[in-house]
Amino acid sequence: MAASISDIRLLLRVKQLPKCADPRRVFVTGGTGYLGGNLLPVLLERGHHVRALVRTNSKGKVPAGCEVVSGDPLDAKTYRQLVRPADTFIHLVGVPRPSPSKGTQFRAIDLVSAQEAISAAADLGVPHFVYLSVAQPAPVMRAYIAVRAECESLIRQRGLNATILRPWYVLGPGHRWPYLLLPFYKMMEWFPPTRAGALRLGLVTIDQMVLSLVQAVESPHEGVRVVEVPEIRNAQVSLSAEHAKTA
Ligand SMILES: NC(=O)c1ccc[n+]([C@@H]2O[C@H](COP(=O)([O-])OP(=O)(O)OC[C@H]3O[C@@H](n4cnc5c(N)ncnc54)[C@H](OP(=O)(O)O)[C@@H]3O)[C@@H](O)[C@H]2O)c1
Repeated sequence: MAASISDIRLLLRVKQLPKCADPRRVFVTGGTGYLGGNLLPVLLERGHHVRALVRTNSKGKVPAGCEVVSGDPLDAKTYRQLVRPADTFIHLVGVPRPSPSKGTQFRAIDLVSAQEAISAAADLGVPHFVYLSVAQPAPVMRAYIAVRAECESLIRQRGLNATILRPWYVLGPGHRWPYLLLPFYKMMEWFPPTRAGALRLGLVTIDQMVLSLVQAVESPHEGVRVVEVPEIRNAQVSLSAEHAKTA
């Protein structure tokens, strides 16, 4: 996959940091999409081992340095065979270009893939599950949100240690039209009755999203931690303690 200017800028920033002092073994689904395509090079640059579950036709989208495996992300058997010895499971599979008309697909793909992934991760005792959910509640995209809320509940029921990230829309190359909404957002943030909703459903950049995911990987959580838009906007990979001492 060709790198965008934004990927390159973020990679240059990450290259200036020391590698993560405690590299992880990461298993990722949906790594060939918009978020995954930006995330995987940064995880590799941080020194993590990345195994990506990929559809055969999408193998060419995975960056060099990742271990590529094939299987069915809608079937827990795939995970039971391929996830070990990962300590971190990132689940990013989702129907492309979500819209209100895709309710059936959300249940057939987003819901089933997450149910199978969560069930296998719990059975295998994967130490940390990272789930890309969505900001909620919201007045639109009800079917999409309902699926993610269901998956969040399942994560809790199965007792996984998990980080759940809840962006609304991630701005970046090819994903820029919501910039037109910025004046509207500013007005809603300024007006006290709509402020909380405007912040919860605010826009984040692809760099902020990638750094939040990296931070989740590097700071595994006991229990369930939910990361919402204001926190995603503040994400930055912390320097290792050794580097902080010498800086
Ligand atoms: N981008 C956002 O603003 C945003 C905001 C909130 C939540 N999210 C959620 O975050 C996740 C990642 O988002 P994204 O923007 O990176 O999505 P994306 O670009 O559409 O990528 C989706 C990924 O899922 C895979 N996938 C889709 N259908 C599949 C199927 N039937 N079987 C196997 N794999 C399948 C794709 O594989 P191929 O490459 O093989 O097609 C791709 O790797 C999604 O669940 C999305 O709903 C995104």
